[in-house]
Amino acid sequence: MLSPSPSDNNGRYTRIISTGSYLPEKVLTNADLERMVSTSDAWITERTGIKRRHIAADDETSATMAAVAARRALEKINLDKNEIELIICATCTPDSFFPSTACLLQQKLGVQQKLPAFDVSAACAGFIYALSICDQFIRSGTIKTALVVGCEVMSRIIDWSDRKVCVLFGDGAGAVILQASDECGIISNHLYAQGQYKDLLYLNNSHTAAKKNNQSEYVHMQGHEVFKMAVNTLGAIVEEAIEKSDYEKKDIDWLVPHQANLRIIKAAAKKLNMPLERVILTVAEHGNTSAASIPLALDQGISDGRIQPGNLLLFEAFGGGLAWGSTLVRY
Ligand code: UT7
Repeated sequence: MLSPSPSDNNGRYTRIISTGSYLPEKVLTNADLERMVSTSDAWITERTGIKRRHIAADDETSATMAAVAARRALEKINLDKNEIELIICATCTPDSFFPSTACLLQQKLGVQQKLPAFDVSAACAGFIYALSICDQFIRSGTIKTALVVGCEVMSRIIDWSDRKVCVLFGDGAGAVILQASDECGIISNHLYAQGQYKDLLYLNNSHTAAKKNNQSEYVHMQGHEVFKMAVNTLGAIVEEAIEKSDYEKKDIDWLVPHQANLRIIKAAAKKLNMPLERVILTVAEHGNTSAASIPLALDQGISDGRIQPGNLLLFEAFGGGLAWGSTLVRY
């Protein structure tokens, strides 16, 4: 767990100064899925809230999508890419074992200077983990400006004949630029994992895992078990984020949750006594984009004017590991 007290930061905060996102052009609707597996728009909508998801083209990868999202974030504030001092990519669908997606992103952006660049693997909670790590670099005074991206090409790790999984996921990338400031920014991060639940949601690596017969190369999920744990865990973590802060539930302007399932999001909002009007929802349009879902939702909420400077935001995510976390941030 990480929970820095605001008074511990020597007056130095990590602020989100820009966001950008990218979604592939191709859209797969529930009606399209009805033609691929034994499912229905009614089942998917009722159980998940998902209507559509974006699917990467053959020449798109986590790194190419991350590069577009990052460029958009840089352009929005006219920031010189050479001011970036750290690149972190949260992804469970990297282009390669190595180099990291962050190194590929550095190359694609044309960032010439030497800097730390690495990937974070925490599945759907990856973006929260990456933000938290970045916050440590900035609050410690090690660096001033960083790029954190959540990018996923989930469509490549899904068995498209498995209706329990294939209806849930989508592709995309969301980027945030973070900078040191004496004005309030990230207030707290809480990170957790419990590896004993590894078998509830996993994707083996056929190259490096122990050799077994019939090893699948696709995502496996015991959906209902993950669902129950997600509801209970996220309910507890959003309460913890508030209890350990100087704020009350009513102070939160926007919940920006990981977008796995509308029912899970509703349960977290209920714990916070927040109406859905104060939750940034993208799950219907994007599906579950894993580590990309929070930065995609954040960029949408900022771009359409709902999220305003000074708003108090709560991010929360839960996924494979099991790993989960939250970030409380003043935008
Ligand atoms: O972001 C990472 C973390 N992941 C999550 O948070 C996902 C968590 N889990 C979920 O969101 C939900 O568990 C699902 C949406 C995956 C499934 O919803 P559920 O209400 O838990 O359904 P279930 O797994 O209990 O399945 C109910 C029935 C089953 O049929 P029987 O056994 O009752 O006859 C399934 O075979 O629904 C069936 N089913 C489907 N039917 C139509 C499963 N998938 C489908 C489908 N279309 N796509």
